[in-house]
Amino acid sequence: MTPDHASELTARVCGLAPVIPVLVIDDAASAADLARALVAGGLPALEVTLRTPAALEAIREMSQVEGGVVGAGTLLTEKDVEAAKEAGANFGVSPGFTRRLLDAAEANDLPMLPGAATPSEAMYLFQRGYRIQKFFPAEANGGVPVLKAWGAPIPQVRFCPTGGVSLQNAPTYLALSNVACVGGSWVAPAALVRSGDWAGVARLAAEAASLPRASS
Ligand code: 3PG
Repeated sequence: MTPDHASELTARVCGLAPVIPVLVIDDAASAADLARALVAGGLPALEVTLRTPAALEAIREMSQVEGGVVGAGTLLTEKDVEAAKEAGANFGVSPGFTRRLLDAAEANDLPMLPGAATPSEAMYLFQRGYRIQKFFPAEANGGVPVLKAWGAPIPQVRFCPTGGVSLQNAPTYLALSNVACVGGSWVAPAALVRSGDWAGVARLAAEAASLPRASS
């Protein structure tokens, strides 16, 4: 898959809703319920981080949920890309990028949302063909003013800021013309997931899904 084609697909994923939930899943047995709650609330695109032993099984379970578009996050190595693809991930997300990681994603037909933290990184990815990128870690990296400043010299790239994004600050990101969507873990708090409060998760998802955005 070319980076250009990958960008078309990740743009579509970002277009589904203003927020992509970033999920750290400890128990694959409740993954499908969690996905159903998020999708019911209006957040169909889901990122399952490969940070727990349950992550790949969770991707398999969540991929069966109607209306969900499940991706794998925290892809660091070629092996992660292959495992994500094998588990049925529809897209991949990485905190940064390496050439080897991008080569693997392109070779395995996994649409990649690669992370950039500096203009040089955003430029490298843009030259390679990635027009949709993750801005990470968004808040620690300067947040909205930084992303707004990047929009002047690099208007061709749109971003999914992630890391420290919340219901409170998401609207200021979403108001930027170079923000396609935001990513965040706040829509699936561990306490609600552990207690199986799916109605509570769906309520948070609905709140996030209703956030207005400038670009989609
Ligand atoms: C992550 O990689 O953990 C994401 O950036 C989520 O960050 P958050 O927990 O601050 O939303």
